[in-house]
Formats: sequence, structure tokens, C-alpha cells
Amino acid sequence: MKDKTFLMIPGPTPVPESVLLDMAKHPIGHRSSEFAKILESVYADLKYVFQTKNDVIVYTASGTGAMDAALSNLVNPGDKVLSLVIGNFGQRWAKIAAALGAEVDIIEVEPGKAIDPKTLKEKLDSDVNKEIKIVTLTQNETSTGVTNDVKTLVSMIREHGALSVVDGVTSLGAMTCKMDEWGIDVLVSGSQKGFMIPPGLSFLAANERAWEVQKQCKRPDFYFNWETNRKSVIANSTAFTPAVNLIVALKTALDMIKEEGLDNIIIRHEKIAKGLREAIRAIGLKLFVENDSIASTSITAVLPPDNITVPDIRKTLKEDYDIVVANGQNQLKDKIFRIGTLGFVSQRDAITAVGSLEAALHKLGHKFELGQGVAALIKYLNK
Ligand SMILES: Cc1ncc(COP(=O)(O)O)c(C=O)c1O
Repeated sequence: MKDKTFLMIPGPTPVPESVLLDMAKHPIGHRSSEFAKILESVYADLKYVFQTKNDVIVYTASGTGAMDAALSNLVNPGDKVLSLVIGNFGQRWAKIAAALGAEVDIIEVEPGKAIDPKTLKEKLDSDVNKEIKIVTLTQNETSTGVTNDVKTLVSMIREHGALSVVDGVTSLGAMTCKMDEWGIDVLVSGSQKGFMIPPGLSFLAANERAWEVQKQCKRPDFYFNWETNRKSVIANSTAFTPAVNLIVALKTALDMIKEEGLDNIIIRHEKIAKGLREAIRAIGLKLFVENDSIASTSITAVLPPDNITVPDIRKTLKEDYDIVVANGQNQLKDKIFRIGTLGFVSQRDAITAVGSLEAALHKLGHKFELGQGVAALIKYLNK
């Protein structure tokens, strides 16, 4: 059957119908008063999601664009950047910093683990001359389904004096991330995740400490220049022609986010992800991240059973049930599959996904008691 596809990948994520209808409208002029009103509301509501008083810049770019915008406004060649790497997206920060001529140092852990705050503390304590200028980190590592303790890590970075630059691409609008309260200096995110709209926009907020460093940046990027873009944010405008329909759609999505409330959204994500973990265990599959305390509440990575391959599971889910789950990335390709429960995802979707996964595994010959996964999930959700 056509048009039944359900994305359970970590982005793009499902999009509400009201948002899709906005995307289908005729574009409006980006210098019109009508659009300025929409921007005013979008800029205010982004602060709500970022939990910040700082201005939030909107870039017409994917999440990586905002990551690039973060470092290209802060890094001068030769600056020392420390990247905390727990997977591909943590690695991306290091690559961007290196491309900008930074001297990059890395703390890396094996996939499936989070950064141990003690390791960071030791590293920062050993930097007696305070040479490290920036520390990059990822709140939710999409490639493995691990969440870092950003609050603790950022407080250590603050104590040392370096700037913390945080990737909130698959955490904002899904997990707790309090930019101002936690003292995050720069925070970025992307539209096709917890924001429930298609890909194409990314967001960046920086606090006063970061703005001071930005002023010392010798060659800040032109398109991504914070100053140029912030001037427009203050004027309820944009520096360049934006993706007008995406911004109109974003207004609708942010209205939905406010109506549900950030706290409720975070609880919804937690409930669904934790219930899904119970279900996976009940089906007799192994979770890639066994430690519940560091497991993501928006992406769940699962190991296939012996003798059944990841491609076969993904293919059966897609062909028989129109559900798309993600493969592992790089060295984890075909070793894990990742189920996204991020953004516009309800309990019904989770029940459907687990039921379909059981059906697919049953067809592929996995030995387990049919129905146990759905039962475990429902019991958890109804607790
Ligand atoms: C944690 C994280 N950071 C950064 C990115 C990069 O975003 P994009 O692919 O939109 O450039 C992604 C994309 O999935 C991500 O999950």
C-alpha cells in the first residue's frame, strides 16, 4: 500500500499533518510584515525549547551547518580544541575544528559508552596553562544511542574556563537540556528531529561568554556569521532568503510543542524509549547500550539475534510493515539497527513498531514467545 511509510529512523522524523500542509502552501515574501510576525513567534518559541534568554539564530542548513557555524565563529588557526567523542557525531566536531586549523585533542570512548566525567576532569586539570579554548560535546550520540551527562560535563568545562559547544541535534525537543541553567556556552540543533519538521533548518544559540570569543575570531564565516544573523533575529527578520515554508511549518510545530509542554514531551520520550527497551529484552534481543542510565530516550540501538542479519530485519520491516529503522553507521553497519522514537511519535506508534518487529523476527525464524514484546511495552506504558 502506498503512503503508509513510517519513519522510525533518528531523522528525518515523522511530520504532523498540519505541518505538512504548511509546507504545501504558496511561499510568502520573506520581507513581508506577515512573515515578520511568524519570525517573531518562532524566535521567541525557540528560546523556550533551548531554555535560554539568548537569541537563537536560524540557518537555512542541516544540523551540520549549525555545527560549522558554531566553530567557524570561534576558532582561530592554532587554537586548542578538545573534542569529547562517543561516536560519529562527536567525531564530526573534531573534523570541523581541524578543518578550521585548530589543534584538536580528543577524548574518545568505545561505541556504546558515555564520557566519564572523571576522565574529563583529569584532562582539564592537567591543562594548567589553560590552553584549551573550546570543548565540543554531543548530548545524544545518534550513532550509538548514548546520552552524555551534559550538565556535569559543562560545569567542569565552565570551571576550567574553556567554552562548551554542545550538539543538541537529537536531544532538543526530546530530552532535558537547559542551556542557561547548565551554563552551556553554544548550543546547536536541527529541524528534522525533535522539532517535527522536514530537514533544512538548523539553530544556534550563544551566550555572552561565547559572544566575547566570537569578537576575537579573525575570519568568521560570511553566511554563518553570528553578528550578521543576530542583527536580523533582533529585527524579526533573516539575513538572507530563508526556507520560507520550513519556517512557516516551524511556527506550527513550535505551537504544538508549547501546547504539549516541554516537560510533558520529555516524559513522553522517556516513557516510550524505556518501554521499548523492556520490549526488546522481552523479545530476547540485546540492547547495544545495556546501561539504562546512559541510554538515549530518542534512539534505541539493538543487536540482531544470532543467524538473522540487520539487512534482513530492516528489509522485512520495510516490505511487510512499511516501517523504516536505521542501520548502524561505519564500523557498526550491519551490527546494530537503530529505532528512532524522536519527535512526533506516540505510544501507538511504539506499540505498532514492536508488534511489527515481533512479526518480522518471527518470519525470519527467531525463537521467542510471540507477543512478549508488545506485552512488556504495554505493561510499562500503563504503569
Ligand atoms: C547528533 C547529531 N549531530 C549532528 C547531526 C548532523 O545533522 P545533519 O545531518 O542535519 O547535518 C546529526 C544527524 O543525524 C546528529 O544526529
